[in-house]
Amino acid sequence: MPNLGKFTVSQQGFGAMGLSHNYGHADEAESLATLDRVIGLGINFIDTANVYGDGHNEQLVGRAIKGRRDGLVIASKFGIVGSGISAEGANGKRVSGDPAYARLQLEGSLKRLGIEQVDIYYVHRIDNSVPIEETVGELARLKAEGKIGGIGLSEATAETIRRAHKEHPVTALQSEYSLWTRDVEAEILPTVRELGIGFVPFSPLGRGFLAGATTPEDDKDVRHRHPRFHGEAAQVNAARRAIVEDIAQRLNATTAQVSLAWVLSKGVVPIPGTRHIKHLESNWAANDLGLDADIIAELEEAFPIGATVGARFPETAPAQGPS
Ligand SMILES: NC(=O)c1ccc[n+]([C@@H]2O[C@H](COP(=O)([O-])OP(=O)(O)OC[C@H]3O[C@@H](n4cnc5c(N)ncnc54)[C@H](OP(=O)(O)O)[C@@H]3O)[C@@H](O)[C@H]2O)c1
Repeated sequence: MPNLGKFTVSQQGFGAMGLSHNYGHADEAESLATLDRVIGLGINFIDTANVYGDGHNEQLVGRAIKGRRDGLVIASKFGIVGSGISAEGANGKRVSGDPAYARLQLEGSLKRLGIEQVDIYYVHRIDNSVPIEETVGELARLKAEGKIGGIGLSEATAETIRRAHKEHPVTALQSEYSLWTRDVEAEILPTVRELGIGFVPFSPLGRGFLAGATTPEDDKDVRHRHPRFHGEAAQVNAARRAIVEDIAQRLNATTAQVSLAWVLSKGVVPIPGTRHIKHLESNWAANDLGLDADIIAELEEAFPIGATVGARFPETAPAQGPS
């Protein structure tokens, strides 16, 4: 099993965001059943954030882990300011790395999760108005107080990662990584490998695109605002995805499994998300789908770095993304 700092985690973690936020309606009872199955399958690494569903997601995770917290690695985040609880203490900022904000938001996360310690506490987006050393300095104090187990960063540049790591060792970097978002391969992955920082790819299924999922009509679904999912961009991107579909057929696997197996081949710990047990179980089975070098080369030829049409996030997103 892979390690993130001192934490030993399952080959894949579980991203809980979609159970409360961003991707249309989620049924609460089904979400709890899915989280129950997450733990049942042996997935011990669960990812949430204060801003997901405005605290709802952390509460949901808290309900699911109650009475069985031992052995689980619970990650949460602060820094992206939404409109509800995450706006408390943010002084009108859209992204906040203020030390007092980090502390205040952590207290809320601990309560909603019903735990004494958040194992990995990420800076969700970097606040360029606060030196990263100040933010990380406060996180180091929260660690010394036992309120967090490790420090994480999300979507940070190589320079920020180095500065943060110098202030206090960073446990994990969580940034987007999938077949259609391979930008981190140039500078970020080499940097975290050099420094011994774990890498946790978010949206490893391309927010459902690389699983072949269709985006629901629901206009609250953020993907309606993501350029990659629209018009000509979507058509060009779907033509590339057809190669994954073809490989999946040849391997008697699903599109999602091939997409995930490719991410897993990079020795990182992806955190795919789903509302449904059926998808969860199928995604977990990707652990056993070893891709040979020829297949990996075929996939990488189909998805060269930077070739995906359309930006990763809507233009209005705070500092590279809403979540
Ligand atoms: N740090 C950050 O800034 C950041 C940003 C985004 C996400 N995240 C984290 O990363 C986690 C994962 O990312 P994500 O949820 O954005 O994207 P993802 O895991 O790439 O994709 C999730 C989407 O794929 C669909 N899906 C999953 N498995 C499927 C399958 N086998 N067949 C068909 N469709 C499938 C899900 O729909 P169903 O529910 O219908 O299965 C959902 O819409 C999040 O939950 C969150 O914890 C972090």
